[in-house]
Amino acid sequence: MECSKPRKIVVAIDGYSSCGKSTFAKTIARSLGYIFIDTGAMYRAVTLYAFEHGAIRSGIVDEEAVVGLLDEIQIAFRFNPERGASDIYVNGERVEGRIRTIEVSNCVSRVSSIREVRQKLVRMQQELGRSRGVVMDGRDIGTVVFPDAELKIFMTADPQVRARRRYDELRAKGDDVSLEEVLENVRSRDAADSGRAISPLRQAEDALVLDNSCMSVEEQMAWFMERYREAACSDK
Ligand code: DC
Repeated sequence: MECSKPRKIVVAIDGYSSCGKSTFAKTIARSLGYIFIDTGAMYRAVTLYAFEHGAIRSGIVDEEAVVGLLDEIQIAFRFNPERGASDIYVNGERVEGRIRTIEVSNCVSRVSSIREVRQKLVRMQQELGRSRGVVMDGRDIGTVVFPDAELKIFMTADPQVRARRRYDELRAKGDDVSLEEVLENVRSRDAADSGRAISPLRQAEDALVLDNSCMSVEEQMAWFMERYREAACSDK
């Protein structure tokens, strides 16, 4: 379907951890000239801040202490031309390189299950997407943040495939992790994200499922562009 003037829409991408959601969302945003918001990075940034300010000790999350820190956490995204993507900042400090360690990954599901944390970040996300023209990836974008998103995609892939992708990424960065450790983290995050009481990960009724276990980024893009044209050219 072709139309001369596609309208600006919200593309909501939800799904399991390490599905390649961010890579996919970033590529889409670049080709459409849309803003890309990685909401997982926001939950990771709060988790990192909690680590660095004593609200997480020996892997134990002190919920009250995390809530007590929320008012002092300012999150911002700034475009980094070197990466061709936005970096995340907390209180003016760039934390992009420090939010994806296995320590943060092990505690982020717990932090993201805290009601007050979600309230703060969901409000920010809604504000960031207010003018449409945004691709947002996370767990609850199509269900809670933008239930009225014009295009909702639910991504999934085999846990072994996801663990291998995350493992390769971490090893390339010099992290000394084992594949078993990463697979265990992927499995336990799936269970925690789907099982939590507030805004659990679930497929919105009107979401389209994309299982990318055996798909290249190019194949995923071709799949997406067809759906995008339908959504952006319809007047519904
Ligand atoms: O996408 P990611 O793996 O970087 O996300 C990190 C964690 O943040 C993930 O375990 C679940 C949580 N998260 C969430 O609860 N809601 C979102 N919208 C995005 C992420």
